Amino acid sequence: MAQKQQTANSEPEPVIKITHLSKSFGNIEALLNVSLEIYAGEILAIVGDNGAGKSTLSKLLSGALTPDNGQIMVGDKSYSSMTPGKAISLGISTVYQDLALVDCRDVVSNIFLGREPVYAGFLVDKRRMQKEAAQVLQDLQINIPSLHTPVGLLSGGQRQGVAVARAVFQGGKVIIFDEPTAAMGLQESAKVIKLLLKLREGGLAVVVISHNLHQVFKISDRICVMRHGQVAAICETKYSSPKEIVGLIMGAAAGV
Ligand SMILES: Nc1ncnc2c1ncn2[C@@H]1O[C@H](COP(=O)(O)OP(=O)(O)OP(=O)(O)O)[C@@H](O)[C@H]1O
Ligand SMILES: [Mg+2]
Repeated sequence: MAQKQQTANSEPEPVIKITHLSKSFGNIEALLNVSLEIYAGEILAIVGDNGAGKSTLSKLLSGALTPDNGQIMVGDKSYSSMTPGKAISLGISTVYQDLALVDCRDVVSNIFLGREPVYAGFLVDKRRMQKEAAQVLQDLQINIPSLHTPVGLLSGGQRQGVAVARAVFQGGKVIIFDEPTAAMGLQESAKVIKLLLKLREGGLAVVVISHNLHQVFKISDRICVMRHGQVAAICETKYSSPKEIVGLIMGAAAGV
């Protein structure tokens, strides 16, 4: 259940407030005038058909893409665009649909990618990396037999675990997961789901892009339905139904 941050007059404060965000690729309007608020302690699911604009939205938040229009407000500061570095420093981490891991490098290197600690000014502190990587994986109950295995040799679920560990390790207030359990077995999916619930319990804002409505109804507090690059509806999960959401995805009249 969402533990929304309260202000003096008891209004919940969003961690991120997106207003009128738009992005086109040539003449394809991938995202059109999207406004959305994301709260601490909630799991917000984003659903929609293929090409609805879900990944584009996540990429605008993570700084992988620059919006054409709109604002992203984080806390009390407003930004017209992000860069990957700025997003991470503002506490926005993303686990991309393709995971964006470097297959030929090992688990430890992937968790630290681009943020390797150094000592004596320039030497990479491998011992510290190993210790901290082991700790974050243990905290998240992610089992990987050897941290020195190149991630290209891991199973889908283990690779997902490494990508999640990297996002958690970056720290922050919001973690966005793009299709976290796609192409995963039942047991592996169950583990990732447990992880998402744990992150929410820890007070993070968790955004999950998913096609799996069964899963969405099991874990989310709110559901944002996207259609043709726009927000078709935002529903509270407990007052909605898979039938309503499917209708909205397919283009029925907007709900809540
Ligand atoms: N880099 C790009 N260049 C051109 N078109 C793009 C690019 N990225 C996305 N698009 C287009 O923008 C639209 C939205 O794509 P997006 O990847 O956001 O959809 P999605 O909702 O994540 O779909 P899926 O469920 O299949 O992952 C699609 O029509 C897609 O083809
Ligand atoms: Mg996508």
